[in-house]
Amino acid sequence: MSGRVAGRVALVTGASSGLGRRFAQVLAAEGAKVIVAARRKERLDDLVKEIGVNALAVQCDVTDEAQVVAMFDAAEAKFGLVDTVINNAGMTHASNAVTQDIAEFRKIMDLNVTSVWCVAREAARRLIKAGPEKSAHGRIVNIASMAGRIVIPNVTAYNTSKAACAHLTRSLAREWARYGINVNALSPGYVATELTEEWLNGEGGQKTIGKSPRRRIMDETSLDESLLFLCSDAAKYVTGTDVLVDDGQSMH
Ligand SMILES: NC(=O)c1ccc[n+]([C@@H]2O[C@H](COP(=O)([O-])OP(=O)(O)OC[C@H]3O[C@@H](n4cnc5c(N)ncnc54)[C@H](OP(=O)(O)O)[C@@H]3O)[C@@H](O)[C@H]2O)c1
Repeated sequence: MSGRVAGRVALVTGASSGLGRRFAQVLAAEGAKVIVAARRKERLDDLVKEIGVNALAVQCDVTDEAQVVAMFDAAEAKFGLVDTVINNAGMTHASNAVTQDIAEFRKIMDLNVTSVWCVAREAARRLIKAGPEKSAHGRIVNIASMAGRIVIPNVTAYNTSKAACAHLTRSLAREWARYGINVNALSPGYVATELTEEWLNGEGGQKTIGKSPRRRIMDETSLDESLLFLCSDAAKYVTGTDVLVDDGQSMH
């Protein structure tokens, strides 16, 4: 451990599985205090047991504004002002647009776009209120996707939401630049997690892997360094960008 994020108070949404769980572990290993949030509390409790005293589990449905505010209250009460946010909670659902239900489309947009905005807004409100010295350390990383840049078939809502997430990131970065708050997106290609497991093991997934330039998908460790960079002091001058980490998958 070299302590690249030592002293930071980092909140990770969607930390009960997959990438979010990994992001929390990586940030904690590099010295941050971490708040892990999701709806499945038992899973968060297990993660906190693993990380130790520098972690706090908060049950939160990030699509609920009141729960988002309460999550920040709980985080602040335990570790002080949250200066680092990983907006990672997200979902997809494969469906042809012709048969997709409007409620399902809205659900994807609500989680992948509106809640990202809501969590970022709450973080920024508190950082700005705390004054320029504190806000200058603000780091918000929104987990977008390669799907925001290319079209993945049969996930129109997901593709759309991730393109929106990347542009939301640029818009917020512009608004909060004068406070020193950096807002960036991190866009993964396919990583094996619960979100992608079923599809990757099926015919469609195997075909996609076969067509990808390196004939492989990434594992959960593949985003560690990019995440740490965006959260660290090394990224002081990096804001409003979208870092694509896809092993070349989008170039097939
Ligand atoms: N895996 C990939 O290949 C890939 C590629 C590009 C981008 N991404 C993006 O990376 C992020 C993480 O994906 P993943 O693969 O790790 O997926 P995952 O394993 O399915 O994890 C999604 C997480 O989001 C949480 N979540 C869902 N709805 C929530 C809500 N309403 N409130 C709070 N938390 C909620 C889930 O926890 P609970 O169910 O406990 O709430 C879970 O922890 C997503 O934004 C995804 O779009 C993934």
